[in-house]
Amino acid sequence: GAEEDLAPRPPVVTVMGHVDHGKTKLLDALRSSNVVDKEAGGITQTIGAYQVATDVDGTERRITLIDTPGHEAFTAMRARGAQATDIAILVVAADDGVMPQTVEALNHAKAAGVPIVVAVNKIDKPDADPTKARGQLTEYGLVPEEYGGDTMFVDVSAKAGTGLDALLEAVILTADASLDLRANPKQNAEGLVIEAHLDRGRGPVATVLVHRGTLKVGDSIVAGPAFGRVRAMLDEYGNNIEEATPSRPALVLGLTAVPGAGDNFMVVGDDRLARQIAEKREARERNALLAQRTG
Ligand code: GTP
Ligand code: NA
Ligand code: MG
Repeated sequence: GAEEDLAPRPPVVTVMGHVDHGKTKLLDALRSSNVVDKEAGGITQTIGAYQVATDVDGTERRITLIDTPGHEAFTAMRARGAQATDIAILVVAADDGVMPQTVEALNHAKAAGVPIVVAVNKIDKPDADPTKARGQLTEYGLVPEEYGGDTMFVDVSAKAGTGLDALLEAVILTADASLDLRANPKQNAEGLVIEAHLDRGRGPVATVLVHRGTLKVGDSIVAGPAFGRVRAMLDEYGNNIEEATPSRPALVLGLTAVPGAGDNFMVVGDDRLARQIAEKREARERNALLAQRTG
């Protein structure tokens, strides 16, 4: 795409950290206090990714948050070369401090070249020691700005709801300082499957993240070995949406099979082409599997 077709897009943020340090609770807290579309609030979240909006210097800024339970999911994504994440929020519980999966998570982010914002969580707890957490992470090369480093640390309590705006602001500041987040919304959509499963009533449903282009209802798509026409799309509140622009997560209905998490998707000219590409991919995978077994 030409330079003039590029438009700013929200950062895509993955929340990582040691087990039980509060990743999910933090995401829940961020969602309920900053939902982009409040009118349908309260409806159960239908996908594992959503957007929030925050005010930074009088401008509404959006952030796409992805809930990855544990670090394994992140590793798998990275292994597939899928650069789904622009920024990582590393959650460290202030009572526990740095734990093995904290270190693994920060190493994955570093290896992927993804800037890190540290959320020091559970500061409401009596034994919370946010200074200790800072000292420990400094030893792993994450030096807080207040110590002369370049990593933003924000004290939060997902339980009490403190520090949430500061955390979102830190994400935006980190994005603005180190990333050029733009994409062409005019081209055919391409992106990544975050999660997919078979729903009893609705058939295959896939949560996709649009990297570039705009995904529209009626588009013919290929997603890994699956294909189909987008019958309907839902946002994170279960509302029907007609299109999804870059960095927007959406639930897609209409695929003929269930794609895998980490599969790429793309819009193609028509159904027939989508089927051909999907069948070619399937055959290629079958052959690779066969070669593996016999080889
Ligand atoms: P995994 O997905 O299993 O890796 O855990 P997680 O990091 O998503 O942690 P989760 O959000 O499930 O929280 C773990 C426990 O910590 C839950 O009992 C939460 O209620 C609690 N918790 C999370 N954040 C806070 C906090 O800020 N303060 C306190 N006191 N408890 C918290
Ligand atoms: Na947990
Ligand atoms: Mg969790």
